[in-house]
Amino acid sequence: MRIALIKGDGIGVDVAEAALTVMEAALEKVGLARPVYDEIQAGAGYFKENGVDIEPDGEERAEAADAIFLGAIGLPAIRHQDGTEISPHLRLRDRFGLYAGVRPVKAYPNAPQRLADPRAANIDLIILRESTEGLFYSAAAHDRSLVVNDDEVQDILRITRKTTTKLHGFAFDLARKRRDRGKPGKLTCVDKANVFTSLAFFRQLFDEVKQNYPDIPVGYNYVDAQALDLVRKPWEFDVLVTENMFGDILSDLAGGLVGGMGMAACAEIGDTTGLFQPAHGSAPDIMGQDKANPLAAILSAALMLDYLSEKLGRPELSSAAELVNSAVDSGFDDNALRPMEFGGDMGTRAVTNQILSRISPVAPVRTSIRA
Ligand SMILES: NC(=O)c1ccc[n+]([C@@H]2O[C@H](COP(=O)([O-])OP(=O)(O)OC[C@H]3O[C@@H](n4cnc5c(N)ncnc54)[C@H](O)[C@@H]3O)[C@@H](O)[C@H]2O)c1
Repeated sequence: MRIALIKGDGIGVDVAEAALTVMEAALEKVGLARPVYDEIQAGAGYFKENGVDIEPDGEERAEAADAIFLGAIGLPAIRHQDGTEISPHLRLRDRFGLYAGVRPVKAYPNAPQRLADPRAANIDLIILRESTEGLFYSAAAHDRSLVVNDDEVQDILRITRKTTTKLHGFAFDLARKRRDRGKPGKLTCVDKANVFTSLAFFRQLFDEVKQNYPDIPVGYNYVDAQALDLVRKPWEFDVLVTENMFGDILSDLAGGLVGGMGMAACAEIGDTTGLFQPAHGSAPDIMGQDKANPLAAILSAALMLDYLSEKLGRPELSSAAELVNSAVDSGFDDNALRPMEFGGDMGTRAVTNQILSRISPVAPVRTSIRA
């Protein structure tokens, strides 16, 4: 198994290392060897030193791996001349067609509930964010904005039949998988079809794909109403499928509902490869202080194991993913995971060690028996 590894900037480095250590422990537990890593230098720090945002052959090497794992990229103090930040990962999404951005949002016991309503303990949903088109089609990394003159710039919101049909198919399949695992299996199309022709097309394609999934209940919400409902009644939602920019914003909101960005895992999946990363950034305000919550990265590693299990036809990888997810579940159940992000007493290393101890409990140290 070959993993392309981009640790990136700031806390990205720490949480990536934590996640891979946990992944290796889970692999060992199910009798598998550690993967072969191809570490690729990229990010704002690399750009500052070298004037380019990724190693010259980095994109090809990432493509050659079975999957890509990324920490976080970007530092606000390091920018291109036009004021935008260093974002090679946006090019990777584009180049590898990573259209399906899977962002689970789940409330854990003993983690902070930001909402007073006790039903917030039942939040368990997935935001499926299209990740190659929409408004991010003209993200600065792609150089597609239309700079009309000194007084005007236009960006394009692009919706294509090809990508959107695949996205909706992925969303319905995901809802079905969740239903088979005892979850509601309901799918909501989140758009702004009342105002934008592009998003009316997004909904039209949703309705076309829906014909193939008569067993999946569906709903519709405009994105502004969805923001309201994510605060008002997030426990009523199961899978949400949406445009790139809407998904970007809603997934931060939803991450906040269940604690913070340190819980926000993410998988970005295309036809031939997948990129796995926590949804948060490099958190310059806490970098280098052992304060980052590594759980988003650790849960992203579990998503990667699940993906690789299906891609490579290796069910043991799915068992390893289950070990990681169970360690997080049981850690919160026992109130043994108390990340500093939530005002707790555990930094990056302490949280990682707690998860490791639940995957491979170390035999208790024996005291010598004296005669
Ligand atoms: N995919 C990515 O790599 C990605 C995503 C978002 C932002 N960024 C970049 O990261 C940099 C910082 O961006 P930002 O501050 O807007 O977003 P951020 O996600 O880095 O941080 C937002 C807030 O959440 C906190 N936070 C984030 N992750 C945390 C964790 N694991 N544990 C504890 N607290 C955590 C931070 O301390 C900060 O207060 C910018 O350069 C931005 O461009 C990169």
